[in-house]
Amino acid sequence: MSVRIAPSILGADFARLGEAVASVEEAGADLIHVDVMDGHFVPNISIGVPVVAALKRVARVPLDVHLMVQHPGRYLDAFIDAGAAMVTVHVEVLPEVGPTLDAIRRRGAKAGVALNPSTPVEAVGPLIHELDHLLIMSVNPGFAGQPFIPGTFDKIARARGLLAASGSRVAIEVDGGVDLGNAAALVRAGATILVAAKAIFGKGDIAEATRALRRAAEAPV
Ligand code: DX5
Ligand code: ZN
Repeated sequence: MSVRIAPSILGADFARLGEAVASVEEAGADLIHVDVMDGHFVPNISIGVPVVAALKRVARVPLDVHLMVQHPGRYLDAFIDAGAAMVTVHVEVLPEVGPTLDAIRRRGAKAGVALNPSTPVEAVGPLIHELDHLLIMSVNPGFAGQPFIPGTFDKIARARGLLAASGSRVAIEVDGGVDLGNAAALVRAGATILVAAKAIFGKGDIAEATRALRRAAEAPV
């Protein structure tokens, strides 16, 4: 499975989002990752539906919307109508995840589940056949620019094993502290989508940083 690069727009200059999208796309970004935060599930407030709609007008690649919100079910239709092609909900906020994943898929978007660093991969066991992607947080969600949690390598490998044992080949997305130094090892552990804010938008040359992350991800370890 080839690796996909998903720049997280949370790290971009919000006064120039269109230019940021154009730069990463020109450099070969596969997805635009959009971090939605509600100030309840995480201690930060970020992007909402109108920004997703604006991004949709300029983006040529799919919008990968990561809902770090306490009540995702209330907003699914709005984000999908605004242009989300992939929608990820956190397992921690849903007593029953299956109906939410169904609701996302019924609207024609790809459905995924995210796991906080303290949530074990086994939490997705019963859902494996309902997932299009599994997002593994490698920082505690809420802010860009935090240091990568090293235990994530084992967690990805366990997730890949669990999925393989069920005959599933869903994408594994890693989000938080991804950089040139850990990208290859993450892919080797089983990651297939790398999200990055600081490693891409924290550099002077956004396009070159996007290309560098892909080169690092595809380098042999
Ligand atoms: C964190 C978000 C991430 C974040 C990644 O809560 O879900 O997508 O933007 O930022 P970096 O790559 O800077 O850790
Ligand atoms: Zn994210």
